[in-house]
Amino acid sequence: MPATFAPPSDANIPLHVIAEDALEGWLANQPVTARTWVDANVFAGRLGQALTIPDDMGRPALALVGYGSEASRMRGRFALAQAAAKLPKGDYRIAAGLPDDQAANEALGWLLSSYRFDRYRTQSELVARLVAPDSIDADQTEALVAGEILTRDLINTPASDMGPPNLEQAARDLANQHSASITVIVGDDLLSQNFPMIHTVGRAADRAPRLIEMRWGDAGPKLTLVGKGVCFDTGGLNLKPGASMGLMKKDMGGAAAVLGLAHMIMATGLKLQLRVLIPAVENSVSGNAFRPQDILTSRKGLTVEINNTDAEGRLVLADALAFADEEKPDQIISMATLTGAARVAVGPDLAPYFSDDPAFVQSLEHAAEIHADPVWRLPFHAPYEAMIEPGIADLDNAPKGGFAGCITAALFLRRFVTDSAYAHFDIYGWQPSDAPARPKGGVGQATRAIYAALGPLLKL
Ligand code: BES
Ligand code: MN
Ligand code: ZN
Repeated sequence: MPATFAPPSDANIPLHVIAEDALEGWLANQPVTARTWVDANVFAGRLGQALTIPDDMGRPALALVGYGSEASRMRGRFALAQAAAKLPKGDYRIAAGLPDDQAANEALGWLLSSYRFDRYRTQSELVARLVAPDSIDADQTEALVAGEILTRDLINTPASDMGPPNLEQAARDLANQHSASITVIVGDDLLSQNFPMIHTVGRAADRAPRLIEMRWGDAGPKLTLVGKGVCFDTGGLNLKPGASMGLMKKDMGGAAAVLGLAHMIMATGLKLQLRVLIPAVENSVSGNAFRPQDILTSRKGLTVEINNTDAEGRLVLADALAFADEEKPDQIISMATLTGAARVAVGPDLAPYFSDDPAFVQSLEHAAEIHADPVWRLPFHAPYEAMIEPGIADLDNAPKGGFAGCITAALFLRRFVTDSAYAHFDIYGWQPSDAPARPKGGVGQATRAIYAALGPLLKL
């Protein structure tokens, strides 16, 4: 089922959003039958509760959805999404009780809650549809949702069906949908066109490494998105233990996020020049795999001593970032499932990011709040630069000591961007257990926040 709004009609079922402390007042104006029904069904306005009141034909005449308390709402996002799953089939129109400034958010959550990953098995659908509240930009909300769904589908698809060629195909499909142009550099052509580190990381896999480049828009400021597309991360010769490898189909989460974000940008026609770069590789084990202590020469000319083949994301991103920077766009943003340290620091709910630009920070944090897409700033802390300098090469891909792993990774990436404004997101890309509008599995992070920050940031 497409995650779109239901058409408004006379048959829409009015839906009342009722906070715990508003229930008594609401009941006071209702017929006694309604009061009895609410009592019998122990509807108390708690967050996520849902109840329909039937008419004398047994059809839902009215729906009640619990809006909880301020404290319960603070503990999560998307208050209505949880209730939507409990409502009977029908098209619902919010009639009362939802604060105007929450309408867009709650409508977004409702649509997102209809997401199912059904590529390998049919899943039961969400049968309650929502009519877009009048106050919101329904087309924009649908575009944000479609972008998020794309991100989730890409991450959820296992590496057997989402290798570098499949990721390329997904990018091609998206480009076709929006008449964007796309070029892909595959295999040994990466060497002749000077992307040595993308080639090195990906060369041990049967499915050839590649750099995917998509361009869209011919006027306005230049934005370049770079996404880590490690379709599976075994760790390479520094093989990951089983438990750590278990989730590594999601290591193309950065690529999935930038493609979802690209969809949001293109579908809503932002007036900018978009470029998307995705180094797509598998970090595999084979006789020709790269080794610890190898020294690689990057596209930018900086040499990198490999001290752990499992720190592969920064290597493929480095060449893509150097390429991005050559054009001197107005803004470069990278997104990557880059470090376990980021997960340890902030957990799966927050997207840690790095930026030294107050305008970027301000636009992003404001947008994050409005779009229920939380982010948390971490520092490009210059005193740690020494940690990524091994002595016999310019850079070390895996500093010892385990201090500030996501900061040193971000500093590593920043060495490859010298001529453009740069921000970096070290996302987790995975929801560990079901939450409203965010089922267990792949999930976009920071994409809506970035999307909404672009207007003020790039003066669109
Ligand atoms: N893809 C991983 C990072 C990762 C692990 C993200 C778990 C989310 C969850 C990355 O390629 C990696 O293995 N990083 C290493 C770097 C280390 C060897 C310097 C890490 O974070 O342990
Ligand atoms: Mn790794
Ligand atoms: Zn990785």
